[in-house]
Amino acid sequence: MIYDTKQATLFGEKTLERKYLESINGEYSFYRGIEVLNKIVWDFKDFTTQYLTHTFHSYPARFIPQIPLTFIKLFTKEEETVLDPMCGCGTTLIEALLNNRNSIGNDFNPLASLITKVKTTLIDENEFRYFNKKLAVMKRYLDMDYRKVDERINNLPNRKVSKIFNRVVISKLEGIRETLLEIKEEGHNDLFDFGRVALSSTIWSLVENGGGIDVDDLFLKKVKSMQNGLKKMDKIIKNIPEVKVICGDARKLEVETNSIDLIVTSPPYVNALDYYRVHMYNMLWLGMDFDLFRKHEIGGHSHFIANRFRLLSEYLGDMFRSMIEMNRVLKKDKLCVMVVGNSSLEYELIESHKFFGEMGKEIGFKPIKTIFRNIDKTKKYTSADIGKIDDEYILVMQKIDNTNVSARDDNFICEVVRGQMMKFREQIKKVQGTSIRGRKPTKERLLKNIDKISEAIQTIPQDIKICSCNNK
Ligand SMILES: C[S@@+](CC[C@H](N)C(=O)[O-])C[C@H]1O[C@@H](n2cnc3c(N)ncnc32)[C@H](O)[C@@H]1O
Repeated sequence: MIYDTKQATLFGEKTLERKYLESINGEYSFYRGIEVLNKIVWDFKDFTTQYLTHTFHSYPARFIPQIPLTFIKLFTKEEETVLDPMCGCGTTLIEALLNNRNSIGNDFNPLASLITKVKTTLIDENEFRYFNKKLAVMKRYLDMDYRKVDERINNLPNRKVSKIFNRVVISKLEGIRETLLEIKEEGHNDLFDFGRVALSSTIWSLVENGGGIDVDDLFLKKVKSMQNGLKKMDKIIKNIPEVKVICGDARKLEVETNSIDLIVTSPPYVNALDYYRVHMYNMLWLGMDFDLFRKHEIGGHSHFIANRFRLLSEYLGDMFRSMIEMNRVLKKDKLCVMVVGNSSLEYELIESHKFFGEMGKEIGFKPIKTIFRNIDKTKKYTSADIGKIDDEYILVMQKIDNTNVSARDDNFICEVVRGQMMKFREQIKKVQGTSIRGRKPTKERLLKNIDKISEAIQTIPQDIKICSCNNK
């Protein structure tokens, strides 16, 4: 077969990435695809993971593009549709776009869906010319506009941000935001979103690196590199497939039943990371409603402080609802791929992929295989509690049946979560302290976990309710 992967033009003749693309290029039967999975070295050590629009904005716990790329190439044909119901910064969608597959991305985090939209929206050369002219005018006035700083602080979408930056920085960031609003008013919505992602990325760098950075220089450099990314992408993509990005809840997908050919996703981890906190300042500056996201975020850990195992049943309930939705929208016989690492609660190891595999069987998914991969320890992180994540699991399931339950069926969700929690309690009764990570809890402390799990089992009916988080 003639090698026609346009994406390969990105990489030099003899690079790892190019060789890998060549090795998985072709048309595969389902069974052949599964065989190929066994031969892949999943660590992808030394591979480039940051190219084209993947570089636009940092995002915690994203997965490497080679994972969705592999499943897209092996298990879909051109113009079929790939879904990521918790798409984060859009890694799956970019790979679908580069390989001429239609895609749908969904994430409740408004910043995530904005980044995903911008990374997958090609922009015309003339539009960029207009944009750059506007920025050139803005640059001339940015230094002179300090007089407006008090007025600008008063106009900030949220006053909290005025506490972390000095007056010069605030004035400049607000000057940029005002220019972007003007661009929107003049009817250039895609450029407005493009500029907001550049602004958000600039704010992120300021928060991460502290002061001493020239704001306009940082913003303009970001804009330039993003424009280059989109221009390169424009040259590579010949037919633009459909891309749809939704800011919504994975437990209630706005996606048609039986319409998807492949799902590749990496859900949040339990007790690992509050996404809304990581992006708080960017979101505040962009005027995004992070409170709504905080209430519906799966896996957030800022509640149930007295009994952390209640977080686990809440998480399993949320993930089970999302899996019911994944089953509903996926076509029969197609694959649902979930990438997740282990986490830890009160010194106990939480192997999420095992819970997902077991819960999947209740709703018409057949676990086909679980792939273990080491990951670059310096890259993926969660919270201080858990530390860096050093491995992850790729759970591959096939939809063999339509589920006849609804993601809103609290009784069913409750029953399945109870079954999982009871199994978990039995394991802890046999062995405690499965994730001590160098700490030294006493035996009594570890045995208390069994009582806490029993207590968490009692409160499942209230803890799995959507939005019961208001009362936590
Ligand atoms: C591990 S990240 C996904 C990263 C993604 N694979 C990437 O490469 O960027 C998990 C995502 O789940 C999202 N999420 C959390 N709760 C959600 C919910 N209720 N509905 C949809 N997405 C949610 C978070 O906002 C986060 O972006």
